[in-house]
Amino acid sequence: MDIPQWPIAGEREAELLRQVLASDRWGGFHPFVTQFEREFAAFQHCAHGVSALNGTVTLEMALEAMGIGQGDEVIVPAISFISTATAVSRVGALPVFVDIEPHTFQIDPARAAAALTPRTRAVMAVHFGGPVADMDRLLQLGVPVIEDAAHSHGSEWSGKRAGSMGVAGSFSFQNSKVMTAGEGGILTSNDSELADRVRAIANQGRRKDGAWFNHYTLGTNYRITALQAAVLIAQLERLPEHNRLREANASIIRRELEAVPGLTLQTIRPEARIQTNYLLLGRIDAAKFGMSRDAFHRAITAEGIPCTPFYPHTLYNNPLYRAGGCRVEPCPVSEACIADAFWFPHRVLLGSETDARELSGIVQRISSSCRQPSLA
Ligand SMILES: Cc1ncc(COP(=O)(O)O)c(C=O)c1O
Repeated sequence: MDIPQWPIAGEREAELLRQVLASDRWGGFHPFVTQFEREFAAFQHCAHGVSALNGTVTLEMALEAMGIGQGDEVIVPAISFISTATAVSRVGALPVFVDIEPHTFQIDPARAAAALTPRTRAVMAVHFGGPVADMDRLLQLGVPVIEDAAHSHGSEWSGKRAGSMGVAGSFSFQNSKVMTAGEGGILTSNDSELADRVRAIANQGRRKDGAWFNHYTLGTNYRITALQAAVLIAQLERLPEHNRLREANASIIRRELEAVPGLTLQTIRPEARIQTNYLLLGRIDAAKFGMSRDAFHRAITAEGIPCTPFYPHTLYNNPLYRAGGCRVEPCPVSEACIADAFWFPHRVLLGSETDARELSGIVQRISSSCRQPSLA
């Protein structure tokens, strides 16, 4: 298989970088930064975009700008990257871990509803792997929803783009993400006042039209550089074609692997059909598949295909949260996924149709080889 390297860049990134290098503003006040914020926010159907160092501080700023802190609770899925939870802890609030759904891998709205208390101030809707979580049901919970859309640049829920439905959306441009500047993040929102508060945090407590040395609120410096913005403008131009290509190849793989016993790829709800395919996720039922997830991972890795045997533990089983500072609701599905789920990174979907068929063929071959009757 010819699996492309990631990240992918070309002459467009180089040309925009040269323009920045030739200018006298390499920092956060080059026009490219504003241009990128405007273009990305519009792409996600949002009125505002505030760029920042990464997709961790954007989550922290969203919570801080919402006034969430000591004594508050925020509901978080037990399966995500650590930032979804640490953002809550770092503003002084309590993460409340709830289970995910068995095959969408998304936060289970019924489990979130059961975890609500008078102290609940928000729910973190992580759009895990690319498809948007069930926003219809999450928005009905009666508490603000923050979309952790780190995997979901261009993903949709019933035609609405990720980051445009909740109070705020948080995107990451870290190296593995479907568009990247190595590091970076952006917060999107349709709430002007929230966006202004977030901008003030990221830009030293300044006001939109305030003087340079006037600082009105407690802020810091989370600004990205013009070099990052230059790369991100070019990466956003590439994204629609990459999303289309990943979807075309993922569809082939989903179709070809549908009948493999004991293998279930991530269920994509019809509302979430347009999505990035950031992770091609699956679960292995060892009894039906004929080998464990770990054995499958070894076999697929031996074929030279990049694959990750899921997270090694739920968020609450990280040493950080084993020491306390959280509430844990029953999470049997999350626990099961730790043992039986895996993902392929999105670059396996950026090859040709032939590569997609070859990947399916390798998985089919591994699956049938372990169900062959013993020759002994
Ligand atoms: C779901 C999720 N949220 C937040 C983040 C944090 O983004 P960053 O690495 O840009 O801080 C990540 C990054 O991997 C992520 O996967």
